[in-house]
Amino acid sequence: MKQTTLTVHTQSHDYPIFITASKANKIDLVTQIVPYIKGKQVLIVTNETIAPLYLSGVQTALEQAHYTVATCILPDGEAFKNQDSINSIYDVLMQEHFARDCTLIALGGGVIGDMTGFAAASFMRGVNFIQVPTTLLSQVDSSVGGKTGINHALGKNMIGAFWQPMAVLADMATFQTLPKREFAAGLAEVVKYALIMDVSFLDWLEEHTEQINAHDGDVLAKMVYRCCDYKAKIVALDERESGKRALLNFGHTFGHAIETHQGYGAWLHGEAVAVGMVQALAMSHKMALISRDEVSRVIRLLQAFNLPIVPPKIDVNDALTLMGHDKKVQRGQIRLVLLRSLGDAFVTADFEPEMLMAVLSSVDEYVGA
Ligand code: NAD
Ligand code: GLY
Repeated sequence: MKQTTLTVHTQSHDYPIFITASKANKIDLVTQIVPYIKGKQVLIVTNETIAPLYLSGVQTALEQAHYTVATCILPDGEAFKNQDSINSIYDVLMQEHFARDCTLIALGGGVIGDMTGFAAASFMRGVNFIQVPTTLLSQVDSSVGGKTGINHALGKNMIGAFWQPMAVLADMATFQTLPKREFAAGLAEVVKYALIMDVSFLDWLEEHTEQINAHDGDVLAKMVYRCCDYKAKIVALDERESGKRALLNFGHTFGHAIETHQGYGAWLHGEAVAVGMVQALAMSHKMALISRDEVSRVIRLLQAFNLPIVPPKIDVNDALTLMGHDKKVQRGQIRLVLLRSLGDAFVTADFEPEMLMAVLSSVDEYVGA
């Protein structure tokens, strides 16, 4: 098993991200995370899909290391990212008499990670937790940086807290069971880092497209490492999103409008982000910041990663209203993350509304539809 480690620096504490490419179809975790488990009581939070695949391996290994292990298996899906699920976690913690020095382990994708983190942030005013992300999206994005939370019926991720994990363990072995569509959705966030932070990473992704699609463990471990490194740098600069962290929302303002319009679940988050990035690239081109060839270059890569590039039909005014619900809106003004060049992003409210409306009406001139 190969392993690399990087450190995330935050105001509360520094923590490691272990990136491994286990050869066996199981998460090889105990030796790495045991030093970060506080106390003797551990609660593993997971869901009905992931439990049959990975829970017994993780649970047995921790029991053999003499921890008292409880489990909480939640229903699968974004629809269950709510207060009822948080209450189910609290129920186990209370019934099993968990104390303040317990540790929660999130075993799953971003939904499980966000909820477990929020339960950890709030139980007894804050207990330790460890992220074991099992989707590409959660390994490169949601497990790092301490944003935790749940959805409210009237808005996604509206209830939450910043609460950093004690450690993150990302094992490439988990991709062996991850549905292809979920893997592709995670690649949208990977491409995002290249576009906002480092054009040389775009070159690298183009050079390694085949190995990435073939799930070459060593290539994936390098890719996940680079993404976590980019995210760790942004989080260290702006943990609470008062500035640079907003750049991580490249493609998301457009993408959220698609997700909300289509109903959560119809489009995966990463799929909506892929199309949202095409729209943000089109906007950057219309503002004479990047060339048409550069837009085409990114579109080719998204297609090679089996991602959609064409938005669903949405009335322009509906799209504008949905974009107006974005957390980046200030004084009623939509703010967009755009590119000055490939690898260099900025946030702006300074654009012609007609240009935005043109992009929302159609990106056919870019996608050749
Ligand atoms: P997810 O957690 O819903 O997982 C996707 C699907 O894959 C689920 O059905 C899950 O059960 C299944 N799955 C997970 N791992 C598997 C595996 N190894 N094998 C087989 N099936 C597996 O989705 P996601 O894309 O990981 O995360 C999306 C969530 O993350 C959203 O709620 C979003 O709001 C949140 N998010 C949070 C942040 C943050 O900074 N906290 C950032 C981005 C996204
Ligand atoms: N996924 C956006 C962030 O962590 O800020």
